Amino acid sequence: MREVVQLFSERGTFIEPEALEYISSKDDPLSFAREIISKIPSSSLVLTLEEIKKLESPHEEKEEKTVMRISPVGSGEKPLAREYDEDVKIIKDVTGNISCRGDVEDFAKLFRSRFEKIRKIFKSQRRGLNDSIPLKNLKKAKVKEARIIGMVRDVRRTQKGYIIVEIEDEEDSISVLIPKDDHHLYQQAQEIVYDEVLSIKVTRGRNDLFIATSIAYPDININHTKRRLDEHICVAFLSDIHVGSKKFLKDEWNRMIKWLNGEIGNSRQREVAGRIKYIVIPGDIVDGVGVYPNQDKELDITDVYKQYQVLAKELERLPDHITIIIQPGNHDAVRPAEPQPALEKEIQDLFSGKNFVFVGNPCYFSIHGIEILSYHGQSLLDFSTNIPTLKYNQPVEIMKVALRKRHLAPIYGGHTPIAPEHEDFMVIERIPDIFVTGHVHLSSIGEYRGVTLINASSWQAQTSYQEMLNFVPDPAKLPIVDLKMGKATTMDFNVV
Ligand SMILES: [Fe+2]
Repeated sequence: MREVVQLFSERGTFIEPEALEYISSKDDPLSFAREIISKIPSSSLVLTLEEIKKLESPHEEKEEKTVMRISPVGSGEKPLAREYDEDVKIIKDVTGNISCRGDVEDFAKLFRSRFEKIRKIFKSQRRGLNDSIPLKNLKKAKVKEARIIGMVRDVRRTQKGYIIVEIEDEEDSISVLIPKDDHHLYQQAQEIVYDEVLSIKVTRGRNDLFIATSIAYPDININHTKRRLDEHICVAFLSDIHVGSKKFLKDEWNRMIKWLNGEIGNSRQREVAGRIKYIVIPGDIVDGVGVYPNQDKELDITDVYKQYQVLAKELERLPDHITIIIQPGNHDAVRPAEPQPALEKEIQDLFSGKNFVFVGNPCYFSIHGIEILSYHGQSLLDFSTNIPTLKYNQPVEIMKVALRKRHLAPIYGGHTPIAPEHEDFMVIERIPDIFVTGHVHLSSIGEYRGVTLINASSWQAQTSYQEMLNFVPDPAKLPIVDLKMGKATTMDFNVV
């Protein structure tokens, strides 16, 4: 690998550790590095993994602009999406599979399930992580260095600035010290949160204290590539509608409905609208009632059932060829604890005249074989308050951490209520092609190791609560993924 690093340094380009790892996974790393060097723009100072992948297989077709603002021109053209039959398959969903009964044993089963699932992920990987030993064997044996897999019971900082992590498995627990002089290791340790499962290489210190030499998260294989379709079918992601709120953005919403019906937009924009076959709604479809103190003062519609009725009427205005996938969020009328089941039948029956698919939160489903993980996103706040490097208004960065940890909401006892299901539905067992969240009312798009990341905006203007927190939402935007290109773009319906 030294030769590869040298090649890049001779050219004056720094290379990120992930990018270097990717190059070293190739059959002939040196030739691959030379090929990449021949394609790097001369201004490039740092080479990232994403850039390498782009240089490796440049798209033959031109990428869409990242954000398109709606244009007022319009005319009716035949939508391409009408040519395709619906193809949605639910892969994993708690709906119909609720198992917790409310006894003490429930939580033990939940955590056991989490541990088993993530250990299985580690064991399936070929990066030297499948040789871990149980904690009781580590304590007994006089081994100098060993790898362990365990759940984080506690993580704290000492007065001298060291990090101490309490790790446990089914039979035992140990304390692991993270030395502060190893910068990379210390940075990795900043991401450790309660109740997550990770792998640590340790050496024996004094008095049963172990010292970490490396930390590994289950993560996603660096060579993972997303599936793509042969056809230009598009999926739009429309989160946090909050029907019933005084702050619901009716004008922007109407503009979007008109665009989807081919009534407005320039010819390019109308063509994109005509390719949209699916709309995914990742939760907070209505504002709800009694979700927070004095919410009634902020409501236009104070009956939750009527809120759903109004939304159902709005969705009837969408073109007939669009299938709508609806997931609940923390404002919806289902149990607040996650995983949440789909909306109950009485509410589902209000929606008619279109193809609706009701799913739980989170849910894995596929559209024409492209896998989507949709999660409302309440735990984004827990991640950002527990990990110093994360910010609540940068949801895509938080989503990358969730993928690295292969868990949507590991922290128990934070802002996210967790239902002790006997199976942990929040483990990211499958690697999706698209991972979408909502909840933070921001519109952002990203990519992590072949997974398209989306936070799907909202249709509610800044609330008084958000104003108090000085939080500025980014509403009335519609992220769209072209399943052939595998890339996301955004339509902006805000008034210029
Ligand atoms: Fe919301």
